[in-house]
Amino acid sequence: GAPQTRTPTGAETGAPATANGQQGAFLTTAQGARLRDTDHSLKAGPRGPVLLQDHHLREKITHFDHERIPERVVHARGAGAHGEFTAYGTAEAVTRAGFLAKGRTTEVFVRFSTVLGSRGSADTVRDTRGFATKFYTDEGTFDLVGNNMPVFFIQDAIKFPDIIHAGKPHPDREIPQAQSAHDTFWDFVSLHTEAQHHAMWNMSDRGIPRSYRTMEGFGVHTFRLVNAAGETVLAKFHWKPKLGVHSLTWEEAQLLGGIDPDFHRRDLYDAIEAGAFPEWELGLQVFPDTPEETFAGVDLLDPTKIVPEELAPVQPVGKLTLNRTPTNFFAETEQVAFHVGHLPPGIDVTNDPLLQGRLFSYVDTQLTRLGGPNFAQIPINRPHAPVNDMLRDGVHQHAVHAGVAPYRPNSLDGGNPFPAGDDDNAFVDVPVQVAQAPKVRANPASFDDHFSQVRLFWLSMSPVEREHIIRAYTFELGKCYHQAIKERQLQCLANIDPVLCAQVATGLGLPAPEPTVPLADVEPSPALSQVGRQWPAD
Ligand code: HEM
Repeated sequence: GAPQTRTPTGAETGAPATANGQQGAFLTTAQGARLRDTDHSLKAGPRGPVLLQDHHLREKITHFDHERIPERVVHARGAGAHGEFTAYGTAEAVTRAGFLAKGRTTEVFVRFSTVLGSRGSADTVRDTRGFATKFYTDEGTFDLVGNNMPVFFIQDAIKFPDIIHAGKPHPDREIPQAQSAHDTFWDFVSLHTEAQHHAMWNMSDRGIPRSYRTMEGFGVHTFRLVNAAGETVLAKFHWKPKLGVHSLTWEEAQLLGGIDPDFHRRDLYDAIEAGAFPEWELGLQVFPDTPEETFAGVDLLDPTKIVPEELAPVQPVGKLTLNRTPTNFFAETEQVAFHVGHLPPGIDVTNDPLLQGRLFSYVDTQLTRLGGPNFAQIPINRPHAPVNDMLRDGVHQHAVHAGVAPYRPNSLDGGNPFPAGDDDNAFVDVPVQVAQAPKVRANPASFDDHFSQVRLFWLSMSPVEREHIIRAYTFELGKCYHQAIKERQLQCLANIDPVLCAQVATGLGLPAPEPTVPLADVEPSPALSQVGRQWPAD
């Protein structure tokens, strides 16, 4: 059918665009009237007063007054880069997603971030890192909105405001800016013990990455993949850095926070500008799609649990290369809008209650952050697939839509747009069985074990990684004012591992409590250790 949208571009004005994305050689107002002077206000005589009628003065200052937009409510501090993803074809058996077909190359934009700090905070603080990737596939945009840690603090999105309120600076003092060293954080994670697993990842070397280029990435949730025959599997997404996984020492992180708070941002920019393009391999852990949605005793809908790679190896399915820095930080890195619901045909969500809440949260926050419902028209967010969506009007509408009947069925605009048929590669919601069960506010019992996998992580660490973890808990808990909070967290550590608990207790000058639950009998997973963690050879 005829295109229904027309987005005016600079080229349509007939004026050649200059390198900075503007047109013409002369300074103009926003309306295109040429200006003689932008250095002096219009005044009644050289000594004033300034005249209210000076439209140029008011336009210039008004626009400046509104240059800032709200920072992201979380992940405010970040850095981005453009690149490309090339698929090996090894995922074709499990998903029909076209961008994973053999040899297919897709443009991407990646934004790395810290979680808790504000937009101007330091890069090298101890925190989780965001690793969000926008694949501009020709079947619609796919956003893989992950972190550098495979588990999350909470099992249900309804707890997200709680963990973030606990982690952000205290509301009375607005300190500390961006670290976990404070009472509210340790109060929450010691009361809400499902957070203990993620908290130990934070206390490990993973919490202070050396570079964005040396971080793993994880989709965290289990997704459902659908192949061309309509068969499904459950899967977890992993990014493996070609440079291997590396961290800063605590002392390096502290020094860099003072000497160069932009350390990670600068490192990413400089590496790409120097032609040292960072690379990651995308991998999948694949599980049978059974009604129980479990694998090796792990509930795959529980985002506080991993499946050890020894039990379900990560299978490489393609390669990501970041090869171009943004031209304009605001236009690209700041305005990019990721959403876990941006899925192409072949990838679907599961009932993970954390994922389900995220499906609501991202677009809701972006309506405020990006000022209305048309942020998909911002260049960095525009899909590279044709869009014919019947969405109309709204603040900052840039398209000039034609036609009179943006609804269907209609008999006026030829009934357009056409719904896709069976052979048109449309997104299919997998018809998973929904439980015949009473409405409840409750978790499945399989979510209840909060300590086994934390012990598994601890036991999988090398001696030097354990030493770093002990020091991190001791330092961070040492910053708490409330002794009861330190004691409650020590109780959690006792339930994870008595040696760990005893060492931290000694450091804090407190007695080590006895475990209140039996210690889990778990097999260490060597793949969890950073030591010797390298990308598979080319
Ligand atoms: C932002 C990851 C859980 C709400 C982000 C970003 C990442 C991320 C990487 C930054 C995106 C960017 O660079 O622009 C994750 C992961 C989660 C998780 C891996 C758990 C597995 C949640 C939950 C909620 C939530 C449960 C809410 C219920 C948000 C919001 C933003 C955000 C509101 C800001 C988005 C924006 O302003 O564009 N998250 N998140 N996240 N996340 Fe999450």
